[in-house]
Amino acid sequence: MPTASMTLLYSPASPFVRKVLVLLHETGQLDRVALEEVQLSPTSPSATVNAQNPAGKIPALRLADGNVLVDSRVILEYLDQQHVGEALIPPSGSARWRRLSLAALADAILDAAVLMRYESFLRPADKRWPEWLAAQQAKIEQSLDHFEQHAIAELSSRFDIAAIGVACALGYLDLRQPELGWRQRCPHLAAWFAEVSLRPSLQASVPPG
Ligand code: BEZ
Repeated sequence: MPTASMTLLYSPASPFVRKVLVLLHETGQLDRVALEEVQLSPTSPSATVNAQNPAGKIPALRLADGNVLVDSRVILEYLDQQHVGEALIPPSGSARWRRLSLAALADAILDAAVLMRYESFLRPADKRWPEWLAAQQAKIEQSLDHFEQHAIAELSSRFDIAAIGVACALGYLDLRQPELGWRQRCPHLAAWFAEVSLRPSLQASVPPG
């Protein structure tokens, strides 16, 4: 069994970390990466994370040579180039840009959902801004509608970078914004998610409730 040569700074509830864990699982690389759990929030940064990523964000991946990769998209691209199986990020051509655009749209759902979580859970009640929250929710709903109306066939065609991103975004909505009721809005997406949720990579990375 190979020993881990890389270290992932992670938190089990982070959907951005989950994307990395799912890709590691799907590409058979889990045993190459040691997990180092960190505690952080927007108002209580982690000194461990700050020492390795000046932006104070996870995931961050420390490589064997000591270099640190930051940002989930960069980490995913790197790890997808470290295995011998079929790439989960198309290397070139229109497929690359389409799948990366779908993955970026999934990340936009995550960005808005995480900001909503901070606004509604961390920010003192008297400082909350309902119009801003509504605008974040609209971004989520518009993006979900795009997947529902224009991307189900593409998502179903293979479990790649786009599918990983969408699955992790939907999983995070279930965790933090169940009241959005996205399944009623997007029944085809719900059916797709029910199917892919059975994959061992998603089962093994379900965030803690
Ligand atoms: C959360 O608990 O919702 C969360 C944790 C880490 C990163 C983003 C969100």
